[in-house]
Amino acid sequence: MANNFSLNDALSGSGNPNPQGWPGAWGNQPAGAGGYPGAAYPGAYPGQGPPGAYPGQGPPGAYPGQGPPGAYPGPPAPGSYPGQPSGPGAYPSPGQPSAPGAYPAASPYGTPAGPLIVPYDLPLPGGAVPRTMITILGTVKPHANRIALDFKRGNDVAFHFNPRFNENNKKVIVCNTKLNNNWGREERLMVFPFESGRPFKIQVMVEPEVFKVAVNDAHLLQYYHRMKNLNEINKLGISGDIDLTSATYTMI
Ligand code: GAL
Repeated sequence: MANNFSLNDALSGSGNPNPQGWPGAWGNQPAGAGGYPGAAYPGAYPGQGPPGAYPGQGPPGAYPGQGPPGAYPGPPAPGSYPGQPSGPGAYPSPGQPSAPGAYPAASPYGTPAGPLIVPYDLPLPGGAVPRTMITILGTVKPHANRIALDFKRGNDVAFHFNPRFNENNKKVIVCNTKLNNNWGREERLMVFPFESGRPFKIQVMVEPEVFKVAVNDAHLLQYYHRMKNLNEINKLGISGDIDLTSATYTMI
């Protein structure tokens, strides 16, 4: 890749203080275009176990990849990122029950907290520009059929990320772009880290040439930008068969 920035630099390099205290590393390095470096999930990343498997992890139902209590400083305070729409605080702290209804009705700052209504639109006021990192926490519903993330510019979809749980009895992740109501060429991946009934974490990192997606702290895929005007991608639609706990973005 021609870009001089990678997420791993940001997370582990000396040049970045990781001001968010971002929990965990990204996972495995990507292969080439749309590539997948091998069987990275579950548990292939050093220190990562299957959900619920490693010592110090929160109670059953805690998010995969979540560190032991106190291992990271947690989310930024509400309001610390102007315009950030989903209240931090929606991210359960280690050990906090994640079941719907387990949250207080509002955070101490008065920001509504708790499960979000799906479909949910996360505004991206600055666009989907490089260094934007989006984190989505949720739980796949039982007997799920689909999940979709849609990075939108008006009616166009710059990046459609669409896990399908049963397409002719197969699980597949379909990625695509929609321009002027026409879908383009699909990029398909048979690696499928989602499971019905299970909590998940999706991180999408915008890099100069690609969207990078990690699930449960393991790199999953990258998608080369087809729509180049990244600053005009101002909304992320989240839909499908999930309970959505939080959707936030930050710049790393
Ligand atoms: C279509 C489907 C859309 C979108 C698209 C991606 O068949 O109806 O929702 O997933 O494929 O190529």
